[in-house]
Amino acid sequence: MIETKLTKLLGIEVPLVQGGMQWVGVPKLAAAVSNAGGLGILTALTQPDPNALRLAIRETRKMTSKPFGVNITLLPSINPPDYEGYARAAVDEGIRIIETAGNNPGPLIKYFKANGCTVIHKCTTIRHAKSAARLGVDVLSIDGFECAGHPGEEDVGGLVLLARAAQELQIPYIASGGIADGRGLAAALALGACGANMGTRFMCTAESPIHQNIKDKIVASTEADTIHIFRTLRNTSRVFRNSVTEQVVALERRPGGAKFEDLRELVAGARGRLVYEKGDPEYGVWTLGVCAGLIKDCPTCEVLVRRIEREAEQVIERMARMRVTRTEKSKL
Ligand SMILES: Cc1cc2nc3c(=O)[nH]c(=O)nc-3n(C[C@H](O)[C@H](O)[C@H](O)COP(=O)(O)O)c2cc1C
Repeated sequence: MIETKLTKLLGIEVPLVQGGMQWVGVPKLAAAVSNAGGLGILTALTQPDPNALRLAIRETRKMTSKPFGVNITLLPSINPPDYEGYARAAVDEGIRIIETAGNNPGPLIKYFKANGCTVIHKCTTIRHAKSAARLGVDVLSIDGFECAGHPGEEDVGGLVLLARAAQELQIPYIASGGIADGRGLAAALALGACGANMGTRFMCTAESPIHQNIKDKIVASTEADTIHIFRTLRNTSRVFRNSVTEQVVALERRPGGAKFEDLRELVAGARGRLVYEKGDPEYGVWTLGVCAGLIKDCPTCEVLVRRIEREAEQVIERMARMRVTRTEKSKL
């Protein structure tokens, strides 16, 4: 087994977190990841309102007695969701592990810390990581350029970002973005992380709620099948490359560019949701990371988590054997 600050802090067996995923982070998946020994996370905004989140938490608890968390993502929005209501629902229902992500998380972090929660904050720059650390978060989730969803605007890959985290951060951090197997987990640990956060890999599991056609599409995809939309709006998002997302990018690149209004219909969240429900990968925008290229099957979370744990242990053992003394080396 691999023991790290993360496994000890959260009371989990394997240092793997299933990051918040809109329309995907539902009770069945979160419970399956937690039962497998990782940390499952419910995505608050996938629930239509705070009361629905309460019910989702209760449903998850019926399926697992292990720790699980709730993600609250702060999105730039004209009509923001009832973040406070979701936060209160999570705390009232006894949730004590929270993943926060997005803009201006200060007030929420303060609320969760005042209520005895362990807060994992996801961010994409060392600057944001340091300010979240000052706000009192317990763990940082450092999301590199490879990640599904929002990689930020600085385009720094995980290799450098995590090494920078090792130089700069005084609190534990986990690696996020591009991790889908035991090699990735071992690499994250080598870079000083105390665990790994995965999104794309958990989409393609038996318990993930998305249509089988989409899971098959992920298995058939390569690392070249994602695209960045909203680059010109400085709200970059890595998504699956299809006719809709190529159209979005073409509009962004036309002379004079595009405003969000010009893209609104193409990128509508409802269309993305229908992709997962109906199984047509061309119907709308849906989130995917470059590690799709590493995914070759759709196992249960139990099989996946145990496989990643075993692979990481093998890598760590192999690397430990690389180390020889000078005397041993001279005999070789
Ligand atoms: C389908 C999907 C939906 C996501 N939705 C959210 C979200 O609502 N909030 C959030 O903080 N991160 C979201 N993410 C990002 C993940 O939590 C995680 O940071 C990311 O997937 C890591 O990169 P990886 O996919 O390479 O593992 C989403 C990722 C995926 C694949």
